Amino acid sequence: MSKTVQIIDPQTGKQTDLPLREPTLGAPAIEIAKLPRELGYWTYDPGFGATASCQSDITYIDGDKGILLYRGYPIDQLAEKSNFMEVAYLLLYGDLPSQREFECFDREVRQHTMVHEAVRYFLEGFHYDAHPMAMLMGVVGSLAGFYHDSLDMFNPADRNLSAIRMIAKMPTIAALAYRRSIGWPAVYPKNSLDFSERLLDMMFSVPSEPYEINPVAAKALNLLFILHADHEQNASTSTVRLVGSTGANPYACVAAGIGALWGPAHGGANEAVLKMLDEIGHVDRVPEFIARAKDKDDPFRLMGFGHRVYKNYDPRAAIIRSMCHEVLNDLGIDDPMLDLAMELERIALEDEYFIERKLYPNVDFYSGIIYKALNIPVNMFTVMFTIARTAGWVAHWLEQHETPDARIGRPRQVYTGHDTRDYVPMDQR
Ligand code: SDX
Repeated sequence: MSKTVQIIDPQTGKQTDLPLREPTLGAPAIEIAKLPRELGYWTYDPGFGATASCQSDITYIDGDKGILLYRGYPIDQLAEKSNFMEVAYLLLYGDLPSQREFECFDREVRQHTMVHEAVRYFLEGFHYDAHPMAMLMGVVGSLAGFYHDSLDMFNPADRNLSAIRMIAKMPTIAALAYRRSIGWPAVYPKNSLDFSERLLDMMFSVPSEPYEINPVAAKALNLLFILHADHEQNASTSTVRLVGSTGANPYACVAAGIGALWGPAHGGANEAVLKMLDEIGHVDRVPEFIARAKDKDDPFRLMGFGHRVYKNYDPRAAIIRSMCHEVLNDLGIDDPMLDLAMELERIALEDEYFIERKLYPNVDFYSGIIYKALNIPVNMFTVMFTIARTAGWVAHWLEQHETPDARIGRPRQVYTGHDTRDYVPMDQR
């Protein structure tokens, strides 16, 4: 017998027992589907801050304790011991792969890294200074036009192939967009390289001389990709699931996810953090910007701070923070922006406004400093986030298609517009 919660309407005395959906970890959820029929009410939760949109086995977050698990494995263990391809396999298929399973998966991804030549000409159509995220959205959405032979969403083989293609091709498209924006010739993916090395080569190698992959850069990217791979029902993943619930093809779903991630309140924050640090410029100006962040009449927010779920330090931010020092030391870079970021963090975390609202640095606060150290331009920061999050997006997309009671997502509303009224002819208005 499943547990229930009794709801009594004091207006009418009517009552109903709503079933509880029990989790492995975290809070149980009240199943409210029959509430409108039994008591005539919707529920109202505009930011979905208290609403579970689905059931998932993929990622668990405990915002109060600062816990993040991918399929049960703690993010700090995966960051220390795993690699992005293994994490992508884990997110997609639910368990860490055997040596043979890993080699199979990695080989399959390598075999899908190229894109149709027409994609390169498609990118030529963008203005040279188009934002790479705009190019990514356009190109990814167009991929359905190249793979219409494997878009049967009710065919598990087509779904798996589409997921592999998305993971494999996102770095290639990202690098093509970057090269287009700087006027350099396209570099084809070298499948002899691993995931992070391949991206560095496609972004930074030039035909005129040999390119040597910096192992520190490859290791840093691999770690950043692991940390950004998934984060349960964040805005962009929820977007992918909502579009997926209509039966849309995976390329349309991921293109929609890219659009959601681009926003400065979400994945666009890493780019916004660097711009903010640039604007602050010097430690002496930190108090001025802290005051602005607290001023309700000022739209300025401290980018890279705060999180809908984490009311503790984002575990990913802690890992990236220490990685910042390691990468800058290994690359022999002394970036005053890191000192500025640390001083900003120190002052903010001592300030009552941030303490009482439990506003801590999030994953985006430090990542930009590492991307900058790797010579990745600011307008490519959210593209890097996209490359990593593609693994999470397609994992959720696969899961939703394997869920028996999946239905089209169709929220309701509280209508506050006009009551019924009659049309008024123009000459009487
Ligand atoms: C990501 O969801 C995910 O999991 C996202 C992500 C992922 O991996 O997918 O973790 C990645 O998107 C991280 C977040 C990156 N965004 C930013 O760094 C942008 C700056 N942060 C904020 O805009 C904000 O904190 C959000 C959007 C992240 C969260 O917003 P919420 O949960 O809706 O919080 P809120 O707006 O209700 O704020 C609560 C209070 C408000 O003050 P009061 O009305 O109570 O007086 O905190 C204040 C806010 O004004 N506040 C901030 C602030 N963030 C919240 N004040 C100043 N600076 C900030 N950054």
